[in-house]
Amino acid sequence: MGDSQFIAKDLIVDDPSKDDFKIHGSVYVDPEIFEAEIDKIFHRSWLYLAHESQIAHPNDYLTAYLGREPVILCRDDQGKIRCFLNRCRHRGTLICRSWQGNSSRFRCIFHGWSYRNDGTLIGVPGRQGYPDDFEMDELGLVEVPRIGTYKGFIFASLTQDVPSLSDHLGNTKHFIDLLVDRYPEGIEIAKGAHRYSIRSNWKLQAESELDFYHGPFLHKGFFDAIGEKEALRLDLRDKIFAIYLGRGHAIDVHHKGSDYYGLSIPLASDEELEKRLGPIGSKWSKEIIGFHMFVFPNLIIYGDHPCPMIETIRPVSVDDTEVVSVTYVPKGDDQARQEYIKKCQLVFSTTLGPAGMVTQDDAAVIKLQMDGQSAKSAPWNDLSRGIHRELKRAAIREFSDFEAMGRGTDDTLYRGIYRWWAKSLSQK
Ligand code: FES
Ligand code: FE
Repeated sequence: MGDSQFIAKDLIVDDPSKDDFKIHGSVYVDPEIFEAEIDKIFHRSWLYLAHESQIAHPNDYLTAYLGREPVILCRDDQGKIRCFLNRCRHRGTLICRSWQGNSSRFRCIFHGWSYRNDGTLIGVPGRQGYPDDFEMDELGLVEVPRIGTYKGFIFASLTQDVPSLSDHLGNTKHFIDLLVDRYPEGIEIAKGAHRYSIRSNWKLQAESELDFYHGPFLHKGFFDAIGEKEALRLDLRDKIFAIYLGRGHAIDVHHKGSDYYGLSIPLASDEELEKRLGPIGSKWSKEIIGFHMFVFPNLIIYGDHPCPMIETIRPVSVDDTEVVSVTYVPKGDDQARQEYIKKCQLVFSTTLGPAGMVTQDDAAVIKLQMDGQSAKSAPWNDLSRGIHRELKRAAIREFSDFEAMGRGTDDTLYRGIYRWWAKSLSQK
C-alpha cells in the first residue's frame, strides 16, 4: 500500500447501525502505515516530552525524541525552558548522549564543536581552517518550532502549524487539573525512570494501558500473589467510567464505587479544592480515586490509582516501541504524604516497569497480539464491546462536553481513538 493511495478508512469498519466496529490487523504490522503515522501524526502534533520538575534547576537537561527526531530539553542558565534538535550542526552527530544531567554547555564528541544551552555555537576547534565569512552565528542548535507547558507538563511540536496547546489538550485539562491541584503543593517527578522496549506496535501499548477488560484474566497470577480478590471482579471494572474525551484523548475513571485498592489520598483542604477546581472539580477530586488517561498520541497518565505514573510511548519501528515511565509524588513532606508516597512507590516498582509483574504480563501479551496479527487470512480485530450501551455526548453533558462514555471493560475508548487516528492519517 503506497502512501499516495493510503486511505485510513479502508482499515476500519465503523457501522453503528449494525453495532459493528473492526480494525484491520495491518494497522499494527504494515511498515508503510507506520511511516504514515510518523509523518502525519508524530511529526505534526504536540507530543509530550517531560515534566518541569525533571529539569527543575538552571542547566538541567534531558534527552528525548519527538517522533523520530532526537531532542535536548533543557533549562538555560536564565531559567528558560528550551528544546533543540539533538544534532550537531557540523556533521549531524548526536550532541548529547546522556539521558539527563546538568550542564551549561554541550560539546560534540566528534570534532569538538561546543554549544551553550541557549543553542549558541561558541567553539569550533581550528576555526582558522574555515574562510573569514564562515558564520558561527548561523550554526547554533536548531530550536524546535513549538514548545508549551500545561500545569508543569511540557509538550513540543516539530511543526509550527498546530493548534494552541490548550486546544490540543482539550478535555484532558480537567483531569490534569485534578491530578495536580488536588494536592496542597502540586506534584513532582520522583527520581529514576523505567526505560524499556516492547517488540510490538506503539498503538498496542496505548490500548493495553486503557484496557480494563483483561485484568482478571491476564493478571490473575499477580492479583493472586498480592491477595487482591476484588481486582478479579469484572462487575467492579464495569463500574469504571470509560470516557472518550475527543481529539484522540481517552480516559478510564475509577471512582469510589469501583475502588479495589483502598488508597487514601492526602488531598488539599475542601476550601482550597473548591477555590482551585470549582464546584464540579472539587466534587470529582473527592469522588475520583484515580484514572488511566491517554493523551494522544504519546502520553499515558495513571492518575493515582493504583500507581501514580507518567509514561511516554515512542514508536521506533512498526514492531518496536520504547516506553519510559516515571512516578510522580505529591510535593511536601508531611506524614500523610510520606506514607502515601511510600505505598505508591512500592506498588509502582513491584507492579510496573521491566521488573513489574503487571508490565511483564502486558508486554508478553502485546507481543502475542503482534504475532497473531501476522495471520493475514483473517485480518480483522473486533472492537464492538459496549457499542450498544455507549452514551453519546448529550447524555453526559452534565460532566463536560465529552464525546462518548462506556464502561471500563468496553471498547468505547478505542472506537474514539481510531476514528481520530483515521482522520489524522487522512490529512494531506
Ligand atoms: Fe560534531 Fe563534527 S560532527 S563536531
Ligand atoms: Fe494490564
